[in-house]
Amino acid sequence: MFRCSNQASAGAGAGHATSDRARPDASEATGPNHETMKTFDNFIGGRWVPPVSGEYFANQNPADARDTIGRFPMSGSADVELAVESAQRGFDEWRRTPAPARGDVLRRVGDLLSVRKDDIADLMTREMGKPLAETRGDVQEGIDTAYYAASEGRRLFGHTVPSELRNKWAMSFRRPIGIAGIVTPFNFPLAIPTWKMFPALVCGNACIFKPAEDVPHTGHALVEILLEAGLPPEVIQLVHGVGEAAGAAIVNHPSIPVISFTGSTETGRVVGEVCGRMHKRLSLEMGGKNAMIVLDDADLELALEGVLWGAFGTTGQRCTATSRLIVQDGVHDEFVSRLVQRARALKLGDGRKSGTDVGPLINQDSVSKVERYIDIGQKEGADLLCGGRRPEGLDHGYFFEPTIFARVRAGMRLEQEEIFGPVLSVIRIRTPDEAFAVNNDVRYGLSSSVYTRDVNVAMRAMNELDTGITYVNAPTIGAEAHLPFGGVKQTGNGHREGGWEVYEFFSETKVGYLDFSGALQRAQIDNYLGTPD
Ligand code: UN1
Repeated sequence: MFRCSNQASAGAGAGHATSDRARPDASEATGPNHETMKTFDNFIGGRWVPPVSGEYFANQNPADARDTIGRFPMSGSADVELAVESAQRGFDEWRRTPAPARGDVLRRVGDLLSVRKDDIADLMTREMGKPLAETRGDVQEGIDTAYYAASEGRRLFGHTVPSELRNKWAMSFRRPIGIAGIVTPFNFPLAIPTWKMFPALVCGNACIFKPAEDVPHTGHALVEILLEAGLPPEVIQLVHGVGEAAGAAIVNHPSIPVISFTGSTETGRVVGEVCGRMHKRLSLEMGGKNAMIVLDDADLELALEGVLWGAFGTTGQRCTATSRLIVQDGVHDEFVSRLVQRARALKLGDGRKSGTDVGPLINQDSVSKVERYIDIGQKEGADLLCGGRRPEGLDHGYFFEPTIFARVRAGMRLEQEEIFGPVLSVIRIRTPDEAFAVNNDVRYGLSSSVYTRDVNVAMRAMNELDTGITYVNAPTIGAEAHLPFGGVKQTGNGHREGGWEVYEFFSETKVGYLDFSGALQRAQIDNYLGTPD
């Protein structure tokens, strides 16, 4: 079992945070719990409005696909056009609001998220499956991000530096950019939108937000809270829909100069091409193939807890998930056999039921992708030690057993490609240097981890591992909101989310020079030695 315990749900069904503005539609079908299916709207132009097309899609519970949460707008470029017109007005007002006042709105957002933590966790687990302890953590990450953003409203530091000329000041400060397009994934339905939107808002931008189509209910709840906290309505636009239509319309719109996207490396490449062509500022957060290295001198029990959490937490659907386990010869056999026993004991089920360790995958496409990689792994000659199939008795959800492959060799597709599911590949190595080389020989570089008691090896790992984050004696997951988050190589495009660095991304640096000498001073020519007062 994971060390963190599952908390019992404090609320049943959709929390009050989201249900009140949705339109009940009595003509719609009902879920197995006989709730009337609700119809949700976009938030555009300061109002909740239906999509221009009039079309909706259904959002289902991945633990039980018979449970439909609601109907959400299938939006396209016409909706995005209206959102841009409104956001432009919102931006003109918001950019003039002092940054500390913008931060105060985020502080109230943090307060509201804290009060509604259990309700939001419950609705989030219902729509994306991970256990309540994890969705509560997801909300907590949003709360932390809100309070950090609130305090940043009183900093947003620029620099004041000496000028090379007399009686002249030189300084830099931050300005907002404009409308930010925020396109987010399903795996952290609350936290990831907050990583992007809260800094964007504190910096004075307006946001057009498209949550992943698998998690629109959490997106709806977040926008309601932003409005309740006092964000001027036209500063936030919520446009539901699929990536190919609503997402593409945002990325392609000429009046949205800054885009922040988290998702697959394949989609990120397309987003990058469009933004490159249109000279947009773009932050990409994409795939990972993160490794945990367990060396002969490691605390094996600690490493065992770590790898179970890193590989099978969130059903392996984290960019930071531990998908490779690199184990040194001396402890390999013992460690792997203990690990398989523990993985077999993990309890799959509905994340809203207490005792559940591992929830479902997000949808059928995801199950099919994982199944494809089980096949690939076996064909490549890896040893399937446990899992590799859907469990019995959970037929209505997208469940998949925690899976471990041993005898995986560096370079196999199983070892190189992101699967985004509960599949762990074990690679045997002889030396720490070999472990570092295997870690680095993939196209991704988000997170890495090393278990050792040797401080010299740990520090060398920090230097040698080509990833944006390295953990010592902790798994590859668990980044904290106030530090920069992101990866190297094809995980990203050089930007960081979280921490202080994301404020660079969402603002323009402007430089001001004030010459109070009363004379023409020519930079680089009339230096202080040659210019009289
Ligand atoms: C992600 O997997 O996309 O570090 C985000 C972690 C979490 C965030 C993960 N705080 O695992």
